[in-house]
Amino acid sequence: MSYVNQPHGGVLINRLLSAEAREEVQKQLDNYRVITVDSWTISDIDCISIGAFSPLTGFLTEADYHSVVDHMRLANGLVWSIPITLAVDEQYQDLEIGEKVVLRGEDGINYAVLTVESKYVPDKQKEAQNVYRTTELEHPGVAKLFERPALYLGGPIDVLERPQPELFADYYYTPEQTRAIFQEKGWKTAVGFQTRNPVHRAHEYIQKTAMEIVDGLFLNPLVGQTKSDDVPATVRMESYLVLLENYYPKDRVFLGAFPAAMRYAGPREAVYHAMVRKNYGCTHFIVGRDHAGVGDYYGTYDAQYIFSEFTREELGIELLFFEHSFFCTKCDGMATTKTCPHDKADHLTLSGTKVRGLLRNGQTPPPQFTRPEVAQVLIKGMQETQPV
Ligand code: ADX
Repeated sequence: MSYVNQPHGGVLINRLLSAEAREEVQKQLDNYRVITVDSWTISDIDCISIGAFSPLTGFLTEADYHSVVDHMRLANGLVWSIPITLAVDEQYQDLEIGEKVVLRGEDGINYAVLTVESKYVPDKQKEAQNVYRTTELEHPGVAKLFERPALYLGGPIDVLERPQPELFADYYYTPEQTRAIFQEKGWKTAVGFQTRNPVHRAHEYIQKTAMEIVDGLFLNPLVGQTKSDDVPATVRMESYLVLLENYYPKDRVFLGAFPAAMRYAGPREAVYHAMVRKNYGCTHFIVGRDHAGVGDYYGTYDAQYIFSEFTREELGIELLFFEHSFFCTKCDGMATTKTCPHDKADHLTLSGTKVRGLLRNGQTPPPQFTRPEVAQVLIKGMQETQPV
């Protein structure tokens, strides 16, 4: 009996060519034009390839793109909130529909072949407003959107190579693998946790609160591109390992990297994050305060409210919403306003900027905020990486 959740759309996509198919495709590559793609696009290719982005089989076509931007759904009605697009220079304007192109990395590796099904010019103002709720270029997601070329290509991809992680290769799993692992562990329910930060006490509190009602936690930190002042993924991975070693029961937690880039699209990104974790096999997904937010572009709980725009059936994953959590000195423990009656003055909250500042100066944040073992890893890591 299968316990894990169904993939989004019912079928787990796999666009990675078999060895034989790959050999055949490789013979044709010289006949195709080449498009050089950056690491952001390579991470999208990888997520499509392994089925993390199921039901996507490639980059959005024009019909899907408009539907996603306008309605947070693919043209067939399935929930999908973030446009996964391939932006290319104008020189590719003359590509014909049906033509195949090679998507090559800056490292010279041919990652995939795209069959061009659609070629279109997006309305970036509208995309920014609908997806990021702002057109301000100070927003890192909007900046990235406008930085990219103005022609989009859509169509299915056939993947030749997966990018090789330089570090922590052991923590990269495909959704097929995580599904098998959850099943082996006998988990009937698994809660997914997205993070782009070190796990501080607030994160630990909401994870463990969730763990009280599900069988296992899938700690799934995003390790693709993030903005430059976020803690680097390598340092974060070390910090997760030391945290899990010291504070979590081994058989109830599973750590796996999520290779995607961070969009900072707040509410819309939360919906997409939930669909992706469904693909990894999760039955539940955590959304706390200002999920995937940046600056003050989104309200504290906007990323929770957005889910009310969909039915439970079409989401197909249970959402676990958490209030802003903190350490209360009077309660002498972690709490939220749902469980703690005391004043703000009794609550210990530190901004990310403040914590990063402390760590860079070699100072340990209070243990009520960060576990000391984690703080040590972060101090060492932050001092080795360039301060921003
Ligand atoms: S995110 O951009 O990946 O969402 P982060 O790593 O900070 O950022 O958050 C991971 C998850 O923990 C998100 O669901 C977020 O809403 C939640 N979260 C972070 N800090 C808190 C907090 N203090 N209280 C409640 N939820 C939180």
